[in-house]
Amino acid sequence: FQPKLLAGKRVLVTAGPTWEAVDAVRGITNRSSGKMGYAVARAALEAGAKVTLITGPTALKPPRGAHVIPVVSAQEMLNAVNAEVGEADIFISVAAVADYYVLNPSEQKIKKDAHILTLELAPNPDILANVTSRANPPFCVGFAAESENLYEFAELKRRRKNLPLLAANLVTEAVGGDESRLTLFDDNGVHALAPGPKLTLARQLIRHIATLYAATHSV
Ligand code: C5P
Repeated sequence: FQPKLLAGKRVLVTAGPTWEAVDAVRGITNRSSGKMGYAVARAALEAGAKVTLITGPTALKPPRGAHVIPVVSAQEMLNAVNAEVGEADIFISVAAVADYYVLNPSEQKIKKDAHILTLELAPNPDILANVTSRANPPFCVGFAAESENLYEFAELKRRRKNLPLLAANLVTEAVGGDESRLTLFDDNGVHALAPGPKLTLARQLIRHIATLYAATHSV
């Protein structure tokens, strides 16, 4: 028996990579599989939440019962989040949003020649920071994938983005695979979860979110 810890709550999740077009067929993306975000969406559904999943391109089947909004680029993800977030009680930002997009992508396929090709990259908006700086933000949860100094970088990120909760993992232990190791950072300190399948970790994360949410929101 799983208690319905988020019964009736509206949870918005972003998942997967974003894909930034270079030309008509090519793009810049990253190795995010979407597995962690989809597991979080599934765990939230199990906990009784109404779940909207905004997802970049992945090879995964979305969890049954989620309202799924597929997007491609970071700008599209931002637009979808802005359209949905006003309805959300909890926002869990698991997506590996591309930090840069290609300025002036070519409408036609770029032809190769002997010259050096230069792509100009411009920074993408920070979707999560946009949400936390809203007037009445939902309860926001961030993710951080680091390649080194996990504790230091994660806590810095949590403070910079003004998050009550951030889940951090090491790229080598998390990205692409079915298993991960999560460390949770909140106002009470650091909670290291045992490594395991992403769905198991997602269920623990949802329990943690439900506890913090209940402590800061009456009913
Ligand atoms: O700064 P960094 O990308 O490591 O922060 C990770 C957190 O911020 C994740 O929760 C990610 O979903 C979110 N993020 C975002 N938009 C970006 C970059 C990161 O929402 N452009």
